[in-house]
Formats: sequence, structure tokens, C-alpha cells
Amino acid sequence: MIGSKVITIKYTDFSLRYLSSMVELGVERFGEKYTNEYKLRAYVENRKNVCKLLVDAESDRLLGFFLMHGTNLEGLAKEFKLNKYEIKRIVGNDERICVAKSLVLQKDSEKAGLATELTRRGLEKAKRMGFYSCWSPLWIRKDGAVPAEHVIKRNGFTFYKVVHMLWVDDKDYKCLDCNGPCKCDAAIYYKIL
Ligand SMILES: CC(C)(COP(=O)(O)OP(=O)(O)OC[C@H]1O[C@@H](n2cnc3c(N)ncnc32)[C@H](O)[C@@H]1OP(=O)(O)O)[C@@H](O)C(=O)NCCC(=O)NCCS
Repeated sequence: MIGSKVITIKYTDFSLRYLSSMVELGVERFGEKYTNEYKLRAYVENRKNVCKLLVDAESDRLLGFFLMHGTNLEGLAKEFKLNKYEIKRIVGNDERICVAKSLVLQKDSEKAGLATELTRRGLEKAKRMGFYSCWSPLWIRKDGAVPAEHVIKRNGFTFYKVVHMLWVDDKDYKCLDCNGPCKCDAAIYYKIL
């Protein structure tokens, strides 16, 4: 049930026919140049990465997506502006690390538990692929809200720390809240899968 409408949904892996809708949805909900078809296609077609989609089974409309990529200690430290040794305190020397990078739903599909289930399925797949830990940077909006916080906690993640202006080096991306380079902070969460 979405709002007062009953719809049939399906969870599926990436398929090229949803690519442009994914870009549109990402740009609409995160900001201009969040991604583009070229970058996103390369990401989802990488065999180390996970892409789970949520689709209206009748109309075939894309309702949301969840993206994860594989990395290692060095890569995670760099991406999240962390120190390699602090990550090691949590995962030891286990380099089987993935990052839950993007979670987004259409506005009219929120608050029905769909993102929680989409995330659960993505994590399940990551575990099957052999990843040991998953790390996620949650967007802290300018008003202090953290839209994905409940979803990520319901999926068993633990808060680690806040990283200041995590995305500021992406000069192309024009964050919805900052209307230019993103100066938002990120709340980092992790989960041992
Ligand atoms: C982040 C985002 C995906 C979260 O969506 P969401 O609607 O809050 O999450 P869900 O679909 O899991 O719905 C959860 C809500 O549905 C309700 N709900 C109904 N049935 C439910 C069920 N079976 N299980 C869980 N929640 C259920 C709950 O009230 C819950 O509210 P709560 O999280 O405040 O406790 C969405 O807000 C979004 O796309 N935002 C824009 C992009 C964004 O900020 N992404 C995150 C970047 S880090």
C-alpha cells in the first residue's frame, strides 16, 4: 500500500531499461549532476557492486534503488575520510568491505517500509557475494534530519561517527540543500554482515 493506493511491487536486479529513470530519480532527490547514465551504468555493471531496484509491477515504473560497491581498507579510508587504523579496530584485517552508497525512493513511495526491505535484500546479496562488513554514509540534511537513519538502524547498523563535509570534493555535484558543492556532513554507520 502506498498512500491510499494498493499496488503490486517487485524487487529486481539492474536492467538497462531503468537506467534513465534511475538517473532522473537520483538527480531529483539528491541534486543536479548527482550521476549520469555513463557513470551509473559503469557502476551497476561492475561485478563487485550491488544494485537492487524497486519497481511497480503493473506500470513498470521505477520506485526506488539501492546501490552498493565493493572496496578495501585503503579505499574505505579514502572515500570516508577515515584513518585506516580506526577501521581496523572494527574489521581487523578483513578487507571484504562494501559501501552502501545510495538509497532513494520516489517521494510518493516513502513511509511504507519499502526502503527497509530494499536495503535488507541488498545486504543479503552483499553477504552472499562474500562481503564481511558494510559501511554507509548517511546524508545529514541542513535541518539536521537524517532521512535514511531509521532504515539503516532497522537493518542492524551501528553508528560510528560524523564526518564533516564528506562530499565537498565532488565539484560537479550540486547538492539540493547547498545549491552548489555539497557541504553537508555524513553520519557513518557500519554493519558486520
Ligand atoms: C531515505 C529514504 C529512502 C527512506 O525512506 P522511508 O520511506 O523513510 O523508509 P521506508 O520505505 O523503509 O519506510 C519507513 C517508514 O514506513 C513506515 N512503515 C510502514 N510499514 C513498515 C514496515 N513494514 N517496515 C518498516 N517501516 C514501515 C514506518 O512508519 C517507517 O517510518 P520511520 O522510518 O520514520 O520509522 C527516503 O526518505 C528517500 O528516498 N529520501 C531521499 C533520498 C535520501 O535522502 N536518501 C538517503 C541518503 S543517505
